[in-house]
Amino acid sequence: MSTGYRVAIVGGTGRLGKQIVDILVSEYRTQFPIVRVLTRDPTSDTARNLQAKGAELHMFDEANVDGSLATALSGVDVVVNALPSATTPLSVKKQVQTTAITSGARVYFLSEFGVDHRQNDFPGYDHHEWAVKRELAEDARTRAAGNVKIVAVYSGLFLEGAFRVTGYDLENNTYSCVGSPAQRIAFTSTADIGRTVAELACLALDSETASHVGGAVRIAGTVVSYEHVRDMVAKIKGLERGAISTGDLWNKKRELQEQGGQASVLDYIRVLMGEGKLDFSGDNVNELVNPRGTRWRWKSAYDQLETQLL
Ligand SMILES: NC(=O)c1ccc[n+]([C@@H]2O[C@H](COP(=O)([O-])OP(=O)(O)OC[C@H]3O[C@@H](n4cnc5c(N)ncnc54)[C@H](OP(=O)(O)O)[C@@H]3O)[C@@H](O)[C@H]2O)c1
Repeated sequence: MSTGYRVAIVGGTGRLGKQIVDILVSEYRTQFPIVRVLTRDPTSDTARNLQAKGAELHMFDEANVDGSLATALSGVDVVVNALPSATTPLSVKKQVQTTAITSGARVYFLSEFGVDHRQNDFPGYDHHEWAVKRELAEDARTRAAGNVKIVAVYSGLFLEGAFRVTGYDLENNTYSCVGSPAQRIAFTSTADIGRTVAELACLALDSETASHVGGAVRIAGTVVSYEHVRDMVAKIKGLERGAISTGDLWNKKRELQEQGGQASVLDYIRVLMGEGKLDFSGDNVNELVNPRGTRWRWKSAYDQLETQLL
């Protein structure tokens, strides 16, 4: 494996971005001795904390995207886009992407890291965030024209956040899902997404392994159903197993349709969970990035629930 790559993370102070940076500057320092973080505020505690760990900070100016990215992306091998979907203006997203793809970097990670929305079945009423993600992915691949590897990582739900929303009331030991409570759902910790990005980047940059990295890949840190989570909570807290109420999948879908794309993304995600479209257990690149678990131990749902509950 070659060493000494340069990587830039746009949105590198965020919920996901800072974990990717943390992993790169600690566990992958040999492979990535230069880690650049783009931020609108290099004086923030998060930015300074990442700098103290070894990351370089670069100013990101939304009013001058090209200019501010010019130095930060100069000579980089990899650009990771971890900007938020909901709050970043589309014009900024497009400029970041265009600059990244023309920067000379050989690998560009799209800001995906969630639902595999390619299989969404919401004709005429899909959530606009996913429509934008699809548009950006298509634009990136067209612009790259085979010269830059464009990678979309679909990682299921963030393990750290998901059991606080989407129908898991851990405090009251009650649960509500859409569809079957036995339906399995993929969750991945943000640190494991960081490790995945590092591994995929190294594989993509090595001419001998580059072809192993697809343009759209799934990972699944841990795959559990509502029933599994309910049982784990009961074990950890020493309680009776809690009640799970289930909403009718088709009614929920009809409600989404009636709202014409205006429903919250969480309402959509609950339907996708019920449809089995977040069960990434059968089709993922876990073995490619972490063969037989030899690189790290994926954080499990049980690990996360213990952290949250104890
Ligand atoms: N699978 C899941 O459960 C899940 C959950 C959440 C997000 N995601 C996905 O993960 C990716 C990253 O999301 P995130 O939640 O980690 O992002 P985030 O924390 O909301 O934001 C990341 C960083 O982007 C910068 N930023 C925020 N708003 C901006 C704006 N309007 N213009 C420019 N920069 C801005 C901020 O850095 P500075 O202030 O330092 O500039 C922020 O720290 C997205 O693709 C999102 O869809 C997935």
